[in-house]
Amino acid sequence: MKILVTGGLGYIGSHTVVALQQSGFEVSIVDNLSNSTIDVLEGIAKITGITPQFKFLDLRDKSEVHHYFKSHKEIDGVIHFAASKAVGESVENPLLYYENNVNSLVNLLQECKKQGIHNFIFSSSCTVYGEPDGLPITEDAPIKKATSPYGNTKQISEEILFDTSKVSHLKAIALRYFNPIGAHASVEIGELPLGVPQNLVPFITQTAYGIREELSVFGDNYPTQDGSCIRDYIHVVDLADAHVVAINRLLAKKNTTAFEVFNIGTGAGSSVFEVIQTFNQVTDQNLKYKVVDRRPGDVIAVYADTTKANTVLGWKAKFSLADALASAWKWELKIRKE
Ligand code: NAD
Ligand code: WQD
Repeated sequence: MKILVTGGLGYIGSHTVVALQQSGFEVSIVDNLSNSTIDVLEGIAKITGITPQFKFLDLRDKSEVHHYFKSHKEIDGVIHFAASKAVGESVENPLLYYENNVNSLVNLLQECKKQGIHNFIFSSSCTVYGEPDGLPITEDAPIKKATSPYGNTKQISEEILFDTSKVSHLKAIALRYFNPIGAHASVEIGELPLGVPQNLVPFITQTAYGIREELSVFGDNYPTQDGSCIRDYIHVVDLADAHVVAINRLLAKKNTTAFEVFNIGTGAGSSVFEVIQTFNQVTDQNLKYKVVDRRPGDVIAVYADTTKANTVLGWKAKFSLADALASAWKWELKIRKE
């Protein structure tokens, strides 16, 4: 079976390519390297012993996408990661986000339809829930008005998939990721944020390494147990495995509706202070931090109800927060040595 992985040189995509290859799939990657480097291909090959097929392709280019599909007719399914993902940047440049995240999806789906490719996995996000009314969040929780153009592209994309699946042979699964962190145990691949990291864990590892002076904790006066925000941090290797399970579900025609949605998290919420404390424990560091004002747009607490993923999809996270943070630290140490 051959799977096309868009954005397969990115953070989550590269871990998923490894998991797919280790499960016996043949993988073709397309990526425009807008947020990744070609070296990732080597990392994947070092882990699996197989260099996946790679084509430089910008999915916004409708005619290039058409040519790609015309010359790659043997694709059994698509896992679509390629997108722009920086929330703050999306507020400043919404058109980039609508163009990249929405047009790329439409271009891909049009070609899938032409080529008779029916199996499609989409990278969605817990951001579609906004500030939830109840916790943990189930998949049928209401979709609140998006707080950023990025979040809106995920909501629109899910609607595009739903609408298309109603009137075509498309079978799609949207995986709503919670907060992916960590790196592959081999430390051949991991997260490579450009510039100053916006996300908590890369900021922590860079601070511990001495690249950043101290971590700013965005608020300690939220209505949570210790006053800091709560998230569901999921090891990227667990997340990658969820894609293998999801594509197998579609290939085996086990889906119950043409468009399905699953929360992909651990089911456990951790506060910012808990993350710092766990990081210190597993790495023997004493992370420097200070509490600053709340970051605008942050939701207070969000973590997944994973019942549907566990029982219907048949996937469950295996790694703990400590495992994930230890792997993130090992990765930071490795990339700084290079
Ligand atoms: P990433 O930036 O590391 O990977 C995305 C990859 O897509 C990059 O290699 C980039 O070069 C490529 N790409 C972007 N636009 C492209 C285009 N037009 N044509 C071809 N390639 C293109 O991001 P990631 O963290 O691996 O995220 C993967 C997906 O998961 C994204 O859709 C993202 O929105 C979603 N997601 C990420 C998170 C997270 O916290 N990392 C959480 C929820 C959802
Ligand atoms: C986690 C917690 C911060 C940095 C974002 C996107 C979301 C999804 C995942 C794609 C929060 C706190 C952070 C720092 C801090 N991406 N924090 N100091 O905001 O939950 O989600 O990435 O879909 O859409 O919004 O993740 O890692 O930025 O923050 O105190 O320097 O850490 O306030 O509570 P977030 P994050």
